Amino acid sequence: SVQELAVLIGTTLDRFIHQEQSAFPYATGELSHLLRDIALAGKIINREVNRAGLVDLSGAMGQSNVQGECQQKLDVIANIRFLRALQRGGEVCAIISEEDEGIIYTNNDNGKYVVAIDPLDGSSNIDVNVSIGTIFSIYRRVTPIGTQANMSDFMQGGRKQVAAGYILYGSSTMLVYSTGSGVNAFTYEYSLGEYILSHRNLRCPEDGGIYSINDAYFEQYDPNIQAYLVNSRKRGLTARYIGSLVGDFHRNSLKGGIYLYPATEKAACGKLRLLYECYPLAFLAEQMGGSASDGQQPILDIVPQNYHQRTPFIVGSSKMVGEVVAALKRSV
Ligand code: AHG
Ligand code: MN
Ligand code: MN
Ligand code: MN
Repeated sequence: SVQELAVLIGTTLDRFIHQEQSAFPYATGELSHLLRDIALAGKIINREVNRAGLVDLSGAMGQSNVQGECQQKLDVIANIRFLRALQRGGEVCAIISEEDEGIIYTNNDNGKYVVAIDPLDGSSNIDVNVSIGTIFSIYRRVTPIGTQANMSDFMQGGRKQVAAGYILYGSSTMLVYSTGSGVNAFTYEYSLGEYILSHRNLRCPEDGGIYSINDAYFEQYDPNIQAYLVNSRKRGLTARYIGSLVGDFHRNSLKGGIYLYPATEKAACGKLRLLYECYPLAFLAEQMGGSASDGQQPILDIVPQNYHQRTPFIVGSSKMVGEVVAALKRSV
């Protein structure tokens, strides 16, 4: 109804950012503009994702990225769209992306922020219409404004993030983010072209009944991880693993659960990347009352060494993560 729409319009992302940011130390508005630039890029990628099958955007590019992964067309398109949106927005001086080896300079040397981004997460699901996402992590630069950014801007560590979030291209498209005072989720209403606040102050249940892990690597996991999985089955937990970290993370945050990508023989440090997958989601998890660990320490306390370093990743309901970490610490 018109009344319902009026209520909805009152809580658009733009209004929310303005309200939230006006009480925020960086009230000069750049972070607000940057969040809007990311939201816009998400709308554009949402459109590409929703018609991938129609305009031959699915499938592989026939080239691989710095990760040694076969890049999907949408990986490259999402990367280009985000880089363009952040370059045009003017608030970001440099970017680290999963899809590029080194720093991408935006020529906005006066920009106060740097962004680390996974432009499209869950690439194996692009062609089969399963949820995929974008993950972003934002830092204030430490190098002087007006100079060219460098590695030190990106090696500040997880607890220096000023904001982080993701866009989930699922049965609905959602933008979920935090600037350090709780997590809020917005559902995209495409007929209005607006993100509408749908989940205010998201909290992750302390415990849950879902575990997410790639069971195919069971034999390669630490015996304590194996014991946790066997015990979870005995306790009647539900296994849900869709191969898109953003989708698994979002569902487990809402319902309670744990996602694990431990070290395997093939991936001795795990598969997931610290800078643009684990740090941002760990930031959100802690903001929702959940937790995130590499098995020995909180993800946010890991000292970063390079742009694409990987880490084992255990994230979700604090009680569940605590149980796994306690078991792994016993094995050290
Ligand atoms: P990306 O598509 O950005 O490379 O990330 C994929 C990640 C994550 O989204 C997912 O949970 C995991 O890879 C799946 O890996 P496996 O296929 O090894 O389980
Ligand atoms: Mn990838
Ligand atoms: Mn990813
Ligand atoms: Mn990716």
